[in-house]
Parts: sequence; structure tokens; C-alpha cells
Amino acid sequence: MNRLAKKTAIVTGAAGGMGAATARLFVAEGANVVLTDVLDAQGEALAAELGGTALFQRHDVADEADWQRVLSATLARFGGVDILVNNAGILMMKGLLDTSKQDFERVLGINLTGTFLGIKAVAPKMIERGAGSIINISSVDGLKGSNAVSAYSASKWGMRGLTKVSAMELSPRGIRVNSIHPGGIATPMTTRAGQTPQMAEATRKFYKTFPLGRVGQPEEVARVSVFLASDDASYMTGAEIAVDGGMSIGPYYMTQPGAPVIS
Ligand SMILES: NC(=O)c1ccc[n+]([C@@H]2O[C@H](COP(=O)([O-])OP(=O)(O)OC[C@H]3O[C@@H](n4cnc5c(N)ncnc54)[C@H](O)[C@@H]3O)[C@@H](O)[C@H]2O)c1
Repeated sequence: MNRLAKKTAIVTGAAGGMGAATARLFVAEGANVVLTDVLDAQGEALAAELGGTALFQRHDVADEADWQRVLSATLARFGGVDILVNNAGILMMKGLLDTSKQDFERVLGINLTGTFLGIKAVAPKMIERGAGSIINISSVDGLKGSNAVSAYSASKWGMRGLTKVSAMELSPRGIRVNSIHPGGIATPMTTRAGQTPQMAEATRKFYKTFPLGRVGQPEEVARVSVFLASDDASYMTGAEIAVDGGMSIGPYYMTQPGAPVIS
């Protein structure tokens, strides 16, 4: 408790899913939190529920001017910013050859350019104070390859690379930058990806093929963000942490000893 006392965080994409879980836990740990999202009603409702240490701002992370507005609102309300969680993102599942240039650029624009713009907007204020923690929510798709995620995977590998470069340039000025790589977390994003009963059943079996054999919960990722945001992670920068039930380790040899039994 209170591991984030006296700290102010901006969490993007915080109206639902992992961002909402992160905002909740940050507030519980004593932080002031600015929740941002394109979903106004949901974001406003969550901020109201969280109380006076939470503020919602409508925000398209792909829009540079929006970042300056969010930063100004954060400084006006809380007087500074210590933590940035670049969590907002979109998933697009399409075959490589069916992915248009517009599709590709839209996914990169939000997931990767949005993260870049966030770092550019917020880091100068952290540098002024000589301290800060930036957490980029990448994906297992930023650690390995998969089918149907050309744009998404490119954006998430890009976030991983941007994390390393940012850590190199910003850590000497007091800012730690790390990436988290979730996989298989139960959020609106993954629910949308498994809509029909057949897809749901295939998804259930899919999870059985990973070492932990189950879907993850948003809070299980949020707890890792609390750690990276807090002084407990004071010697960590440029690191990548998979929170994926073992999904990124690699596939089992299913017919050999040690493989899970799928039922
Ligand atoms: N759920 C998973 O299994 C999983 C796995 C790996 C990575 N991730 C990543 O975790 C992050 C959170 O995903 P989630 O699963 O909670 O999904 P989600 O769809 O539930 O939440 C994403 C949030 O981002 C918001 N958003 C979308 N575009 C935006 C924009 N332009 N500006 C601001 N906000 C915007 C959405 O409105 C939504 O509230 C994403 O970056 C996602 O790629 C999720």
C-alpha cells in the first residue's frame, strides 16, 4: 500500500481493460492519476468513482496537440508528473496481404507514434525534476511473431525498440523507461477478438497450450506496472517484462513429455 504516494501518473487508454485496472491500482497505492481515453463517458465515470485523486481527460494519443492539453491539465491539477503509462492501443487481426496501407498506418499511428508522442510530451517535465518512470505496454507480439498481426506486431516491436532508445537517452537524466509485454489478458480487446462460441472454445484450448494454462486478469498486469512505477524498481531501465502466462517462451512439442494435456 502507498507505494506510489505523492506521485502523479498519466495512464492512457484508461477507460477500460488494463488501463482502467492500472488507474484503479495506482489510486489504491496513493497516486494521483490522470486517466485518458477516446471513450469519454466510460473514462469520466471511472474517474468519478475513483474520487478526487483521479482526473479524466479526453485524449487521442495519436494527436500531438492533445498531449500538450493533457500535460497542461495534469500540471494544473496535480503540479507535476512522475509516471507515464503508454497503454492505449488497438488490435487489428488481418492477413498480411489483406492489410491496407491505411490499416497499417492507423495501428502504428496509435500504438507506436502515440507512445513516441507521449514520451516527447512528458519527459521534459520529468527531466526538470530529475526523476520519472515511463512504462510502455507492448505485447507478446513485440517479443515473437504470429499470424494475422502484421501491423500490430510491427507496432509492438517498435515500442520495444523505442523503450530501449528512450532508456539510453533519458535514464542519465533520471527517467527509467521499461516495457511490459502482456499476453492473453481478459479485456474488451481480447473479448472482441473471440466473439463467436466457436472462437471462444478455440481460445480456451489455445490458452491450455501455455505454461500457466489460463487467461490472465488485467490486475495481474497492473501489479507489474505498480512495481515498475515505484521506487522498488529503482535499478531497472530498458528492461522488458513478459506478463503472459509463459506464452512468449515458445510452443511445446505437444507429443513429447512435459507437454500439457488439452481437454
Ligand atoms: N489484452 C491483452 O491480452 C493484451 C495483450 C498484449 C498487449 N495488450 C496491450 O495492452 C494495452 C491495453 O489493452 P487492453 O487489452 O486493455 O484493450 P482495451 O481495448 O480494453 O483498452 C484499450 C483502451 O485504449 C483506448 N484507445 C484506443 N485508441 C485510443 C487513442 N487513439 N487514444 C487514446 N485511447 C485510445 C480504448 O478506447 C480502450 O479504452 C494495449 O496497448 C494492448 O495492445 C493487450
